[in-house]
Amino acid sequence: MVAAVRVHKAGGPEALVYEDVQIAAPGQGQIKIKQHACGVNFIDCYFRMGMYPSPVGMPFIAGNESAGEVIEVGPGVTDLKKGDRVAYVGPLGGYAAERVFNADRAVKLPDNITYEQAAGMMLKGLTVQYLLNRTYKVGKGTICLIHAAAGGVGLIACQWANHLGATVIGTVGSKDKAEIAKKNGAHHTILYRDEDFVAKVKEITSGKLCDVVYDGIGKDTFPASLDCLRPMGYFVSFGSASGQIDAFNINILQARGSLFATRPTLNHYAAKRDDLVSMANDLFKVVGSSAVKIPAHKYALKDAAQSHKDLEGRKTTGSVILIP
Ligand SMILES: NC(=O)c1ccc[n+]([C@@H]2O[C@H](COP(=O)([O-])OP(=O)(O)OC[C@H]3O[C@@H](n4cnc5c(N)ncnc54)[C@H](OP(=O)(O)O)[C@@H]3O)[C@@H](O)[C@H]2O)c1
Repeated sequence: MVAAVRVHKAGGPEALVYEDVQIAAPGQGQIKIKQHACGVNFIDCYFRMGMYPSPVGMPFIAGNESAGEVIEVGPGVTDLKKGDRVAYVGPLGGYAAERVFNADRAVKLPDNITYEQAAGMMLKGLTVQYLLNRTYKVGKGTICLIHAAAGGVGLIACQWANHLGATVIGTVGSKDKAEIAKKNGAHHTILYRDEDFVAKVKEITSGKLCDVVYDGIGKDTFPASLDCLRPMGYFVSFGSASGQIDAFNINILQARGSLFATRPTLNHYAAKRDDLVSMANDLFKVVGSSAVKIPAHKYALKDAAQSHKDLEGRKTTGSVILIP
């Protein structure tokens, strides 16, 4: 038996129950991982509260991302062996001291990436990789608005967009978060709970507005985010930390300047093994070179419920990880 955090009934953070579970032996094409650090993400809250139904029914082990060491290899696995250091983002089952995982969805960790860095960035960092390089190609001269700039995805996005040569405008919920976002790549910050962020974007850009808005907030920042875009700009709605955006009339995009809107998810961008590996290599390169840092709030695995309270209570900055 090993320690894990399961949800038996959808609900608030208290629905996360720390208990012992039995982990099966790895089957065909699978590995067993002794997990050294597990990532906490907003999507874990969506599953916990039932906004996203669990595909494996109840109870389920929460969590979608971890890093650790291969301790057993199932039949048919040729690329990985006992002792290899690996990390993954994938199906539920992350919040546990050990887990069985499909070998073809795990990636080997370079020596210069720690387990804690990996657990803090596989989901969030791969997301930023595709958001900045594929959903909209950010480069020198791009003006981008990143909401929740001091959050997990936000801090990685600010650093990486800055590294690519963009002008980065970040919204944040407090002055402390503004400081953190500025130290991590944001050129300008806006306190979007106190200030009119559209007016501030107009002021900062001298009326030029942004090429792209990365919006993981959802309900509370829509449709104002559209007003931060120049004609033919890109609205990238990649999450719903404040709740989902209500259905809207597509003509709103024409009226606000022939805008593009997309609702992307990592699962599609990293569906093919080749894409997953090349995206991970790109991420390992920017983190390995220290162009992007992965600051993380650490909690013991048994305190998973507290980590969710803090994440949903907007108390965390950067990544959040659990240590089994
Ligand atoms: N589509 C994808 O592929 C993908 C992948 C990963 C994550 N995501 C999405 O990215 C977003 C960020 O995820 P994360 O794990 O990095 O979380 P996070 O940004 O660390 O935490 C969420 C932040 O959102 C802000 N926020 C605004 N309104 C909020 C509200 N009503 N309740 C809670 N927080 C609110 C808070 O920052 P302030 O205090 O500064 O406002 C909070 O710190 C989430 O929407 C997540 O679902 C999407």
